[in-house]
Amino acid sequence: MTAVEGVAARRLTIVVGITGGIAAYKAVGVARALVLAGHEVHIVATEGALRFVGRPTLEAISRNPVHTDLYEGVAEVRHVALGQRADLIVIAPATAHSIASLAAGLAGDLLGTTVLAARAPLVIAPAMHTEMWENPATRANVATLRERGVIVVGPATGALTGSDTGAGRMSEPDEIAAAALRAVRPQDLAGRSILISAGGTREPLDPVRFLGNRSSGRQGVALAEAARARGARVTLVAAHLEVAEPAGVAIEHVGTAAELRESMRRLAPDHDTIVMAAAVADFRPRTIAEGKIKKEAVGDVLTLELERTPDVLAELAAERRDHQRVVGFAAETEPDAEALRALGAAKAARKGVDLLVVNRVGWSEGFGSPTNDVMVLDRAGSVVCTAAGDKLSVADRILDALA
Ligand code: CTP
Repeated sequence: MTAVEGVAARRLTIVVGITGGIAAYKAVGVARALVLAGHEVHIVATEGALRFVGRPTLEAISRNPVHTDLYEGVAEVRHVALGQRADLIVIAPATAHSIASLAAGLAGDLLGTTVLAARAPLVIAPAMHTEMWENPATRANVATLRERGVIVVGPATGALTGSDTGAGRMSEPDEIAAAALRAVRPQDLAGRSILISAGGTREPLDPVRFLGNRSSGRQGVALAEAARARGARVTLVAAHLEVAEPAGVAIEHVGTAAELRESMRRLAPDHDTIVMAAAVADFRPRTIAEGKIKKEAVGDVLTLELERTPDVLAELAAERRDHQRVVGFAAETEPDAEALRALGAAKAARKGVDLLVVNRVGWSEGFGSPTNDVMVLDRAGSVVCTAAGDKLSVADRILDALA
């Protein structure tokens, strides 16, 4: 079973919007993946899109007529009918122009009216040159859409049309289709409340320096997004995230291990599940210099004295209410799978968690990477499941283990 299959069991009515960028040829793959996953696909293409990809191709792939014109099918009120019927709308590629139109709520073409008339989740896959993607106007429009709950897939970084490379390449069709189907997931976590920590803490040495770690927060944010999409109420305690904040989630920002501990312990009683995905400093400087540490005053060697920080996860596990579930993470550099499991098993027992997500980290694995490869252990140290792939799919598998 691929990631695209198996996410939504029911046959969905999906509108695939295609706008006028060269990546429109890859939209054929998006429509095809959704049709192959068993869904009914209706393509709404802009005039510009049809300059890049032919109507017969789109009709053959989607097995339905392609719609373009606002003034066709007026008797059946098509300008809103498609949107009203849709369970899901996917726009791929979403050009800078179409993103601006969506942000402004423009209804000058069939795609605009379809989107405005829909209550279904909207997923967009931007594609444009790096300068356009990084332009403040585009950034602001994308931020507006995210705030409204629109799911933005990509863009990836790679070869663009012409000789340039950079951010702005449309994500791969299967990835877009999988992300879109995840947006209409069953609400199996409705009624649950999940507190998640994510990111990496920083311990100050002086007013300008800190000791930190390489955690980007991506896996914790993916867990928050997935839990939210499955109906949970989610609170995220975020330490120096290097990725966009998830929508629809309450967020509390923290800097140090002590701040993270204070937030987690205060918020924990109000949640039925706690997930400690943050990389928390195990040691912090015993003293913080009032002013900047100066080379002349120190000499050639600087010796730092570090003290242990409290183990927040172990505390939360020890203080848990009845029925509260506690999930920990373990980042290990051990290369051997069985030795990795054994390390995880010992850690799960030591910290008293219900589940421990063990992942291998290294100079190039784990931290900051868009993908992850994990082993989920129960309290006894047995493997509940393993998961590999993009961090959102891994998040779903972890939540499955929890559900
Ligand atoms: N953790 C915590 N408080 C700390 C350190 C870690 O709550 N002061 C949590 C992390 O959020 C993670 C788990 O403990 O969920 C495992 O962290 P890890 O650093 O892998 O384990 P340690 O117990 O610190 O063991 P070691 O670093 O020696 O492997």
